Amino acid sequence: MDSVLLLLLALFSYRTGGNRLFRGSSPVGLDLDLEVDADLSAVFRRVDPRFLSVTIDASLASNEKFMLLLRSQRIRTLAKALSPAFLRFGGTKQDFMVFRPKRSQQLNADEPCSSTGLPWWLEQRLKEDWTQQKLILLKEEQQNQHNRVHFTELTVDLLHSFSSCSGLDLIFGLNALLRTTDNSWNSSNARSLLQYCESKRYNMSWELGNEPNSYEKKAGIRVDGHQLGVDFTLLRKMMAESKLYRDGGLYGPDVGQPRDHRADLLKSFLQSGAEAVDACTWHHYYVNSRNTSLHDFLDPEVLDSLALKIQEVLKRVKQEAPGKPVWLGETSSAYGGGAAGLSDAFVSGFMWLDKLGLGAKLGLDVVMRQELFGSGHYQLIDDDLDPLPDYWLSLLYKRLVGPEVLKLWVVSDSGRSKRVRLYLHCANRRSYASGAVVLISMNLSRKPARISLPVLLSGSTVDAFVLQSSLPGKEGLQSRSVQLNGVLLKMVDDKTLPELSGARSPPAERVQLPAFSLGFFVFSEARAPACR
Ligand SMILES: *[C@@H]1O[C@H](CO)[C@@H](O)[C@H](O)[C@H]1NC(C)=O
Ligand SMILES: *[C@@H]1O[C@H](CO)[C@@H](O)[C@H](O)[C@H]1NC(C)=O
Ligand SMILES: *[C@@H]1O[C@H](CO)[C@@H](O)[C@H](O)[C@H]1NC(C)=O
Ligand SMILES: *[C@@H]1O[C@H](CO)[C@@H](O)[C@H](O)[C@H]1NC(C)=O
Repeated sequence: MDSVLLLLLALFSYRTGGNRLFRGSSPVGLDLDLEVDADLSAVFRRVDPRFLSVTIDASLASNEKFMLLLRSQRIRTLAKALSPAFLRFGGTKQDFMVFRPKRSQQLNADEPCSSTGLPWWLEQRLKEDWTQQKLILLKEEQQNQHNRVHFTELTVDLLHSFSSCSGLDLIFGLNALLRTTDNSWNSSNARSLLQYCESKRYNMSWELGNEPNSYEKKAGIRVDGHQLGVDFTLLRKMMAESKLYRDGGLYGPDVGQPRDHRADLLKSFLQSGAEAVDACTWHHYYVNSRNTSLHDFLDPEVLDSLALKIQEVLKRVKQEAPGKPVWLGETSSAYGGGAAGLSDAFVSGFMWLDKLGLGAKLGLDVVMRQELFGSGHYQLIDDDLDPLPDYWLSLLYKRLVGPEVLKLWVVSDSGRSKRVRLYLHCANRRSYASGAVVLISMNLSRKPARISLPVLLSGSTVDAFVLQSSLPGKEGLQSRSVQLNGVLLKMVDDKTLPELSGARSPPAERVQLPAFSLGFFVFSEARAPACR
């Protein structure tokens, strides 16, 4: 991928009197001609301000000492920059975790955030041990062998201190596989955990069970949707008895994406449990980590497959529990721990950004990325606690994209290109003045393309934030580093992130989007009525 492939994305900005749209003629040599229009007068839909959220897989607590990594200054700096967001603690392991309090292992709840540092030698040691632990976890996952794990107050204390010091809202996933002889949920362990958390005045929300559709495979226990709904109702009742959690959040059922009987599980869950939950959660992965390829990660058909799943879930929820918010409670590129060299590489950004764009547009309110840090290859922060390309992409999204989704549609498209993907939001008010909008764009095309934008956007200064790999070709797509507007992104030090500045260009000038890049274009003077 040399300069020959670095073609232009031209955002022409002519004003054609009275016409909302600029319609340009096709320039010589470019064979895709895409023309879009947008409605800037009204908000199409509004997502939760925590729309982009993250998870920590419960496997981090498989040995409690690894939870101490959450005291690393580096992780905290990185997490804090993603606030506001939810931090979901859950995953397969959650249904094998039992709370076993030990009075000796508690942290002081009033400890100031500034004093939570981890000595460098301990951090080093934990990072090394974690590399080993990851191999064990991977093997367990592959052999579908899940050992029971006991955790103490320390796990919850560290999680809570991490989330509250980072400005994230903690969601704790409870074990739903503790069952009584009549196969209803045995709530006694959860009760003692809730009591402990309440005694510490931990403001947090709850989930119950992870991917109940595969309980039979994971544990030889079958729990149907109706029973699960009854279990959630019991948990809601327990919460109602607590002063602190009475109005707190409860989310579920964290079911896998619709396939075979899962759709039925969701349906019957909603019939008995919808009232107990504040949002209906499901999980989504595009591909299987064991047989996926670079090709899949760039395939618009693969990206589009998410739309069908979202529509299926929304339809079901609309039938059974109209108005209930729908969240992706856990989601990433490839299931089975993510694909090495893909899920942790630059190319993963196409799936991630498209999921954010599509999810917001089609009707999801929150999307929780598996995972902030942990054992999978789909993590945002690697084992050395360095941010991976999807971390930087998430950070840019947080800084630039507001919760208001605007309607953008393709008016004409000579190439019928599903490979140029565009979404429009109001710009984030924390970074831009009211009225600003941001065009989120991705390009998977092998053919040159040109996009004509509505005149309403074209009178504005443009700030371009273009993410590209630092290396050319296939190697570049699989690179673990990324450049913003040509500058390699890396932390300045453990407490400082680099400045993320846009490349400003005046109205009527072209901005460039090179091949295989992810771009945010902020039109700071768009004066969109919807964004005021
Ligand atoms: C629930 O679990 C607790 C702790 O293991 C046990 O003591 C209790 O008997 C169980 N209750 C039922 C109804 O199974
Ligand atoms: C708990 O956290 C939520 C979410 O941040 C917040 O809205 C709520 O006011 C908090 N409640 C208490 C009692 O602090
Ligand atoms: C990968 O494996 C899954 C499950 O066995 C299968 O459904 C899928 O079609 C395979 N995908 C590819 C690209 O081979
Ligand atoms: C997309 O990338 C291709 C190369 O794969 C490039 O030729 C084209 O100009 C780019 N299109 C846009 C809209 O950026």
